[in-house]
Amino acid sequence: MDLKRSIYKKIYNSKDGNIDWKWHKKKFNRIALVNRLIEKTGGLNSNYLEIGCDQNELFDSITCYNKIGVDPVSGGTHKMTSDDFFKDNKKKFNVIFIDGLHEYSQVRKDALNSLDCIDENGWIAFHDFLPANYLEQHIPRLGNGWPWTGDCWKLAYELSQAKNIEFKIVEIDRGVGLMRKISADYFVPDFSDDLLKSEFDKFLEILDELPLCNFDEAISFIG
Ligand SMILES: C[S@@+](CC[C@H](N)C(=O)[O-])C[C@H]1O[C@@H](n2cnc3c(N)ncnc32)[C@H](O)[C@@H]1O
Repeated sequence: MDLKRSIYKKIYNSKDGNIDWKWHKKKFNRIALVNRLIEKTGGLNSNYLEIGCDQNELFDSITCYNKIGVDPVSGGTHKMTSDDFFKDNKKKFNVIFIDGLHEYSQVRKDALNSLDCIDENGWIAFHDFLPANYLEQHIPRLGNGWPWTGDCWKLAYELSQAKNIEFKIVEIDRGVGLMRKISADYFVPDFSDDLLKSEFDKFLEILDELPLCNFDEAISFIG
């Protein structure tokens, strides 16, 4: 057993079926990380897109002027689905945060559409790549009494195997994915035949293969 596997075995409690990610002890969240991306890509003049805005908690905390937020229900600037937005969009963005419908096939579409309109040196980030248990990642959502990551982790696994894309998952705030294209000739594999119906036990199986990093490592990765 390699070191990483033994660490994750330790934090997974097979009795209650939970991974104790200790999110409340991490000191940083998605807002801190996305603002670092903004700083690195033009600061106040950066072009930012957020898919899924809800109460604008993140959207209103982003320190740049050119912001587009897409949500069919609440928040942001464009009241529509991400599919409808991307269909007509001609703009390029420096930073995109994907946090809309937390279902594998939708988050996959959002990621591929974002890759088409991200600036050459831009960054795409994601929320909720690291579920703590079976319920958090269940499709459909089974209740409102706990956080819901959905099964975005399936896309994270595909991105970890992608070509000409650099990808990490930062261990803060239920798992913040970070990626950038390193060439126009990129490729994201499609493992849907295997993953579509998979559940939390499959997540535990592939966890060792995900490129996890802490906040400090993410700051070095961003450069
Ligand atoms: C978790 S909340 C977003 C939270 C926000 N990004 C933040 O960090 O504060 C998810 C949002 O995605 C929106 N949503 C659901 N389906 C969507 C879709 N197809 N396209 C865009 N947004 C969607 C929901 O209405 C909800 O407001």
